[in-house]
Amino acid sequence: MELVINGKTYPVESDADTPLLWVIRDELGLTGTKYGCGIAQCGACSVLVDGEVMRSCVTPVQGVAGRHITTIEGIEADDVGRQVVAAWVEHQVPQCGYCQSGQVMAATSLLRATAHPTDDQIAATMTNLCRCGTYNAIHAAVHDLARGTFATASAADADGLAGLAIDGSRPS
Ligand code: FES
Ligand code: FES
Repeated sequence: MELVINGKTYPVESDADTPLLWVIRDELGLTGTKYGCGIAQCGACSVLVDGEVMRSCVTPVQGVAGRHITTIEGIEADDVGRQVVAAWVEHQVPQCGYCQSGQVMAATSLLRATAHPTDDQIAATMTNLCRCGTYNAIHAAVHDLARGTFATASAADADGLAGLAIDGSRPS
């Protein structure tokens, strides 16, 4: 079986019913996607599959073979994802960072489908849990993006992403 992740094709040896999360983290070494609950409740494991958010801890890998998967490592290749990351940086959203790759995936999926979501649409989509309580900052960032009042700062984004540890690692 093969997986297409962030535009690159990977051969995969895991069993067909292995959760996608284990494959991308343990077999392929893409560790920006996190394990939280393992039962589709927290959203830490969220990835995009053909642009739609999916909780990889409960997604059998064979179900996404050949589809286009995006993880946090590749999100800035997506025009919307790049703006979401920049807004996260601007609002200094991450605290420990553990949940934030999943939060970025949820916001990117929402804004790809609906450029100017309503408050109700935002609330219905941004359901990922954050034990650090970054909800107010997430809300502010998504609202900026939804109102179209946030402009990507391009080159500054990459430094900001690393500095704010959006992939769950700690800044050095
Ligand atoms: S680890 Fe998948 S939703 Fe919590
Ligand atoms: S769990 Fe720490 S930033 Fe969300």
